[in-house]
Amino acid sequence: MKIENESDVNGKVGIIGLGFVGLPLAFTIIRKGFRVIGIDLDESKTMKLNNGKSYIQDIDDEEIQIAIDSGALIVSNNYSDLREADSIIICVPTPLTPRHTPDLSYLMDTCNRLFPLLRKGQLVILESSTYPGTTVEVVKPLIERSGLKVGKHIFIAYSPERIDPGNKLSIREIPKVVSGVTEHCLAKVSHLYRQIFDRIVPVSTTQAAETTKLLENTFRLINISFINEFAQMCDRMSLDVWEIIDAASTKPYGFTAFYPGPGVGGHCIPVDPLYLQWKARAYGIESQFINLSHQVNITMPAYILELIQSQFRSSGSLSEMNILLYGVAYKKDTPDARESPAIALIQSLIEEGARVTYHDPYVPLLSLDHTIMSSVEITENMLSSMDCVVILTDHTQAPLASILKYAPLVFDIRNATKGMKSDAKIIKLGGGH
Ligand SMILES: NC(=O)c1ccc[n+]([C@@H]2O[C@H](COP(=O)([O-])OP(=O)(O)OC[C@H]3O[C@@H](n4cnc5c(N)ncnc54)[C@H](O)[C@@H]3O)[C@@H](O)[C@H]2O)c1
Repeated sequence: MKIENESDVNGKVGIIGLGFVGLPLAFTIIRKGFRVIGIDLDESKTMKLNNGKSYIQDIDDEEIQIAIDSGALIVSNNYSDLREADSIIICVPTPLTPRHTPDLSYLMDTCNRLFPLLRKGQLVILESSTYPGTTVEVVKPLIERSGLKVGKHIFIAYSPERIDPGNKLSIREIPKVVSGVTEHCLAKVSHLYRQIFDRIVPVSTTQAAETTKLLENTFRLINISFINEFAQMCDRMSLDVWEIIDAASTKPYGFTAFYPGPGVGGHCIPVDPLYLQWKARAYGIESQFINLSHQVNITMPAYILELIQSQFRSSGSLSEMNILLYGVAYKKDTPDARESPAIALIQSLIEEGARVTYHDPYVPLLSLDHTIMSSVEITENMLSSMDCVVILTDHTQAPLASILKYAPLVFDIRNATKGMKSDAKIIKLGGGH
């Protein structure tokens, strides 16, 4: 483990929530020479970390073991360990309720556990994605129950996490938007994060920082949903969407490529725009773009189902068909299957009577509504016994050559087989077949 800028380093940093965001952030901070106290209520995670085992693909076992052995990382589920921290970063989930409204229960639980432990001089930074106003309207009043005055005795900041799991760009290199409840709070977070990140981007209010994150993710939802609708138009018009995107991408300005797929997933892109929508409603504004994009997104699995059904019209139905899905993670080279469109597709294929199996090297188990499925091994025999294979996630290690050699029919939802020769019939999403 290489420690940079040792001379600048001061203090201990607490991190609450050691998931896809919190754990990589912890190591970004440790690599700068800080000591980190990591808190997570999930005992299976704290136990793994204390045994030098990673559960996030971007962090390896060896680095965890070295950090634990050297005391650079203390992992526990006991909030009182945070008393020693100079700064405390909150990275807990901010999902949706079943009614598609913001669920801040994890965040409120965190603040309720934290406030009795707080002491003068500490800086509390929220990193979880959330709607504009959360830091001031929800976090601040809960923290103030400590009796400490914000901006004078205790400092509260908001800095949205912009990590892109699976991306080679390190967190340190991604410019960090920072904001504070008061000017003093902003100065504190800027001082800390300047030591950790290559570039910080201060903004005027916590609301501006919260909304920056929502703009980024809403922009992605809208554009991905548009390209998915565009792919459907290309299918109808016998045009190849992939060729058209490649050609449009040669324009040196004014065009940003987004690519079709089974719909967005994960904890951010399908969720954050609905946080923005919820808050905007309180101001009497309904975003038509968000509503439409959300609708297009949630209907993508049904479109893929139709694509599959269209190839089996002569036999009447998908009943008893053997269908293998390759990849159920919502994104290439990640183990994250939260909100993955694979879940809706598998459930509707099962409802159609198909015998569905899946393989994903990163997702050994997948929770459906009423059951849990396990990833199966891919062999030549099993590929030959399939009626079709659906490539839903284009993991780098996908055995594409074998799939094309042994499966009779392949639905390529990601253009993963671009340019490959095949004995199998390939149907591409937006492929103009
Ligand atoms: N996953 C991403 O790519 C990504 C990117 C940017 C921002 N975000 C945002 O970051 C936040 C965290 O997301 P994540 O993907 O890391 O979630 P995650 O589920 O992977 O991790 C959250 C962790 O918090 C723990 N936790 C929950 N409640 C707790 C509590 N009260 N005290 C201590 N620990 C608690 C959970 O056990 C879990 O390990 C969310 O707001 C998300 O929208 C995520």
